[in-house]
Amino acid sequence: MRTQGGKLMAAGIDDISIYIPRLYVDAADFAEARGLDPAKLQKGLGVSKMAIVDTNQDPACLASNACLTIMQNNKLSPEDIGRLYVSTESSFDESKAMNSYVIGMLEQVYGQGAFEHCGGVETKFACVSGSYALYDNTNWIRAGEAEGKAALVVVSDIAKYDMGSSGEMTQGAGAVAMLLNDQPRLLAFDPKVTATSIKDEYDFYRPFGKETPIVHGQYSNLLYMIQVRKALEIYKKKSISSELIKLESGETILDHMDYINMHLPYSNMGKKALAYLVRHEWRQLPRWKKIIHEIGMEEPIPKDPRGTIESVLGDQEYMAKDHEFTKMFTKTPEFQEVYEAKLASSLIASKMIGNLYTASLYLGFRSSLEFEYQKGINLDGKRVGFGSYGSGASAMVFSGLIQPEYEEIVKSMNLEAELGPRRKLTLNEYERIHESKLGPEESMLKPKHEFILVDVNTTTESRGERRYVFNE
Ligand code: HMG
Repeated sequence: MRTQGGKLMAAGIDDISIYIPRLYVDAADFAEARGLDPAKLQKGLGVSKMAIVDTNQDPACLASNACLTIMQNNKLSPEDIGRLYVSTESSFDESKAMNSYVIGMLEQVYGQGAFEHCGGVETKFACVSGSYALYDNTNWIRAGEAEGKAALVVVSDIAKYDMGSSGEMTQGAGAVAMLLNDQPRLLAFDPKVTATSIKDEYDFYRPFGKETPIVHGQYSNLLYMIQVRKALEIYKKKSISSELIKLESGETILDHMDYINMHLPYSNMGKKALAYLVRHEWRQLPRWKKIIHEIGMEEPIPKDPRGTIESVLGDQEYMAKDHEFTKMFTKTPEFQEVYEAKLASSLIASKMIGNLYTASLYLGFRSSLEFEYQKGINLDGKRVGFGSYGSGASAMVFSGLIQPEYEEIVKSMNLEAELGPRRKLTLNEYERIHESKLGPEESMLKPKHEFILVDVNTTTESRGERRYVFNE
């Protein structure tokens, strides 16, 4: 690790920008069309609107638009950037990396060859790959390889599920660009504590040539929580052994995180996962006795506590009791306090936009910064913990400290204004877009100061070549 005057060199997120498509489907309209109770989406999952890409947008356009915003907001020139990574699971080419398309688009604005000195790859591991990209680029900076340049990590995805499937209620689209450097104004990552877990799983995957994933929904929910818990255990060990955190008796590692940001496939998954982690951490502590007394019910145990995820899900009696216990636990004042203080603000954007796969965790972080700042809280020095999950499956837990200069960035965050006026799609329009019945020239909205897709070549020699333009 490089040091500066004996102090560890900082590296982290200097600024963050978002690009969200301006079309959306309203949860109530969607529920009516699918014969569902709107409350299932709005209250059960925490989904009120799902952002949908226009016919002239793809994940590379979304990524480029987020990148252009962060470069323009910070008056950066391509010379200031040493690496440009794109993390996505909505890739449309098996070989050509998405960052090359992004560079092509940015060079329409900054001049051909302007990014030639840059490096970077597309990274893939479902929703967690953006966290790996952040980690790698943070270490590139810490290692002194950056030579004063910054890295851009862009997470961009279109969460699209089969029509009529239960996943269809958890769609969304958008990109988040993050500028990383050695003097980050927003968040410096804690060194030597990043923790991972990994396992070969089929909870959610998208085989070659298939546009939508194959999903085992309830399995994926439970696997997400188990994998993040495993990574949290490793984070705990690393943060104690590296002396980042000293646990006093009766404390949990979560007490040392002022904010907790979770991967958000839908906003209520954040609450579900937080409850799971808090239960796991509190179970060993004296405070648990009081909680059990308040709930008035012992914590249920599966018939086969060492069984598989399938056996736990198949144990219907246990699942029903655990559901009841969780509901009561999440209503206790002790959990409510943790939820309101550490997580709730991160869920606001997700409710309005939906699942962004790789970008969901970072949209949540952005949401938490804006809405906590609006409460008048001084965020300087607050520790933010991240619980990242990608199906297939890997989890990553890491943390960072909000920096003294955070206000320079956070004071101008305004989610409503950045989303701009949005257009609500009719279900018929949404379904035509979903079934890819419309070409790029049949877009619903006129592009405004953004990159759009104009054409995908269908000739034998150049099949798949994409042409983009920047619309002033
Ligand atoms: P489902 O099984 O149809 O829904 O689909 P459910 O029966 O579990 O109901 C959902 C919630 O609504 C429940 O709340 C119900 O009680 C409640 P909970 O009990 O869990 O607190 N509910 C109602 N509430 C009020 N009024 C009502 C009502 N009815 C029910 N009338 C599922 C849910 C998430 C499984 C589905 O949408 C799905 O398969 N989504 C896609 C997969 C997914 O998002 N998995 C999440 C974990 S894996 C992950 O995050 C990775 C991922 O992002 C991909 C990647 O890594 O790349 C997906």
